[in-house]
Amino acid sequence: MDKITVNLEKRSYQILFGQDVLSVIGTICSDLKLGSSVAVITNPTVAALYYEPVRAALVQAGFTVYKVEIPDGEEYKNIETLKEIYSRLIDCGLDRGSFIVALGGGVVGDVAGFAAATYLRGIPFVQVPTTLLAQVDSSVGGKTGINHEKGKNLIGAFYQPVSVLVDVATLDTLPEREFLSGMAEVVKYGVAMDGGLFDFIHDNADRLLARDKESLLTVIKRSCALKGEIVAQDEMETGLRAVLNYGHTFGHAVETLTGYREYTHGEAVAIGMARAARVSERMGHSGKSETERIIALLETLGLPTRLPSFDAAAYRDALLRDKKVRDRGLNFVFNRGIGDFHIGRVTDIEALLEAAGIGE
Ligand code: NAD
Ligand code: GLY
Repeated sequence: MDKITVNLEKRSYQILFGQDVLSVIGTICSDLKLGSSVAVITNPTVAALYYEPVRAALVQAGFTVYKVEIPDGEEYKNIETLKEIYSRLIDCGLDRGSFIVALGGGVVGDVAGFAAATYLRGIPFVQVPTTLLAQVDSSVGGKTGINHEKGKNLIGAFYQPVSVLVDVATLDTLPEREFLSGMAEVVKYGVAMDGGLFDFIHDNADRLLARDKESLLTVIKRSCALKGEIVAQDEMETGLRAVLNYGHTFGHAVETLTGYREYTHGEAVAIGMARAARVSERMGHSGKSETERIIALLETLGLPTRLPSFDAAAYRDALLRDKKVRDRGLNFVFNRGIGDFHIGRVTDIEALLEAAGIGE
């Protein structure tokens, strides 16, 4: 099994990668010396596919295992679900010698991680991400939390897992749209941070789309290594970590304008990256050929790149929803060619919209 370490001094942890990782979760948790009882937090979709092997491996290693199921869907990433989780953990008698396993995509990982951060003032948790997005992004870096009715991810904590177990075989069952959504985040790392990764995705697009395990392991490991390096330098997002939001400025605007219903997060980020590439070109950080290569790769992967048609005023409002942004401008992540980035403050929102080709 391959390993990458996220270096955070006493809170450092390993990300383990392989094709049959679920079957060894018991041994891995034993080696981490995590106490004797574990709550596996998951949802019905993932549980039907992967709970049994996880439970069996944990029981075989001597753990007492409790299943905690939460409903499937972003709309359940909320305070009610969190309360249900706390009640179940209390009813199962989980004490400070217990730990949590988050088995599922980013929704399960974010909620379960926040439950771990807050239950009994914090118990350890292990991330077992089962979507591509969770394997390359959300399971690493310790952002945990829930949504509030007034906005996404408004309640949360930075709380690092004690380990992340990436079993690439779980991607076999992932619906195509969810898989492609994760690929958008992989492209993000390539464009903003690693030209070699970008070229690998380009040269192996067919294999990746066919979910070839070796090719997937290559891009997942590289993505996690890049994210791990950023998190090690800027855990609390005081500056550098913002690079992970490449493509997200216009992506979030698209999600807001379409009410989070029309596009998956990755699709919105793909559209946002196509715009960010154009803005970077127009503002002198990149060239036309790079913009064309970025958009062509997204299209090869079957991801959308065209903005949904709302007028410029709607996009301006979506970008300026936050009062802080209205007063002081926004931090924008530019790609410098392919494989490097620049984070700059943009105060002239009209110029940004124009550079993005909005309202032309
Ligand atoms: P998700 O967790 O909703 O999973 C998508 C769908 O796939 C769900 O229906 C799920 O049940 C199903 N699924 C999961 N694994 C499967 C498998 N192996 N086979 C079949 N079906 C499977 O969505 P997501 O895209 O994984 O995560 C999105 C969430 O992640 C959002 O809430 C977002 O805010 C969060 N996020 C967090 C971070 C972070 O740093 N913490 C980063 C990015 C995104
Ligand atoms: N997904 C962005 C971050 O973890 O910072």
